Amino acid sequence: MEEKVDSFWEYLPYLPLIDPTNIVTCMEGGIPLQQWNFLEEFVKNKYNINIQVHVYRNDLNGGTGTFKDVSASLAASIFKEYGVNQYCVASTGNTATSYATYLSIAGINCSVFIPENALKASEAFISAYGQQVFRTNGDYTKTKVIAADYARINNILISNGNIDPIRVEAKKTMVFEWLRQLGKMPDVYIQAISGGTGPIAIDKGVREIQSIYPGLKNPRFLLVQPDKCDPMVQAWEKAEINDFPTGYEKDFPSIDNPETTIPTLATGHPGTYPIIAKLVKSVDGSFVRISEDKIAAFARLIAFESKVMLGPASAVCIAGFFESLKKGLIKDGESVLLNIGEGVNRAPEFVNEMIYTTKNIDNVEQCKPHTMNTYREQLWAAIEN
Ligand SMILES: Cc1ncc(COP(=O)(O)O)c(C=O)c1O
Repeated sequence: MEEKVDSFWEYLPYLPLIDPTNIVTCMEGGIPLQQWNFLEEFVKNKYNINIQVHVYRNDLNGGTGTFKDVSASLAASIFKEYGVNQYCVASTGNTATSYATYLSIAGINCSVFIPENALKASEAFISAYGQQVFRTNGDYTKTKVIAADYARINNILISNGNIDPIRVEAKKTMVFEWLRQLGKMPDVYIQAISGGTGPIAIDKGVREIQSIYPGLKNPRFLLVQPDKCDPMVQAWEKAEINDFPTGYEKDFPSIDNPETTIPTLATGHPGTYPIIAKLVKSVDGSFVRISEDKIAAFARLIAFESKVMLGPASAVCIAGFFESLKKGLIKDGESVLLNIGEGVNRAPEFVNEMIYTTKNIDNVEQCKPHTMNTYREQLWAAIEN
């Protein structure tokens, strides 16, 4: 394995930028894949299978600590190269924050459209950097429509959502990083899914580098949604029951104003499902539903065992890993990659959910020393229920 790279700009020859002096970077994308042995041991004990578990630490990205940072870095650099000075983007939160940050650094104006339920913390970052926030009275679907109208009326470039070539080009470098760090592609890839840029970009990365690595294949995608906003899971389950009839990928529900507490993943109208579903089917993957009310229990367990504080969307991914095991979707001998897409600082409200050891006291007699192992047992029991 080679030395750690500083950022995804290591892959400049594969990126659509001509002059490297235009690069706008906060050291993003050169992030570690960590092996989490405690999960491997759990799987060995409970399911009697041997797997490898690596987590991709996007929370360590230098920009805003999410897996949107590589896209925003590439976007800001391209805009600098072409002299673009007005841009706009609709986002559930993390793309908005990341684009606002990088475009601010490059001195490019960015109008950001966020849905009604987007986190205050996202809004605060965008505003603090001097970019314009438009908070829609409505959900993400409505937000995207208004943003598109604004772009057209004002003749301003707009991000083309989950199939935006800049986002895809940047995120495809995940594949290059995994090959560099692991020496192979993982067998299984697990990610919380909203619109699906992640899997679309992985597919692009694999296709692009197949000439150098003949036989390189996409991982089996296991894509996770919380039960309060799960249109892709619903569509997939229906297709499975009906044995994937012709045109199954065009049959998906639309959830208006999804009442989820994870705005990052609140894509109620999954316009990209036709692309993602075919991709998932082609690798024998699946969509997995998890209980949104239980994600804090997963985040607490991970914080205890690994000292990594997850954001809610990352906790959904971890919950999806455990659910996939229950459903027998992970097999003996496989290597599994979990995409930790964000750390807890992206959702400060979620930090409060991590409190569980506090005892309110009046006097010293009520205070006794503790053993951390008691908490360990409680935390593992909580995710098993
Ligand atoms: C932390 C995190 N995880 C997962 C997702 C879903 O990403 P995708 O566009 O691949 O659906 C997002 C973005 O929406 C995110 O910010």
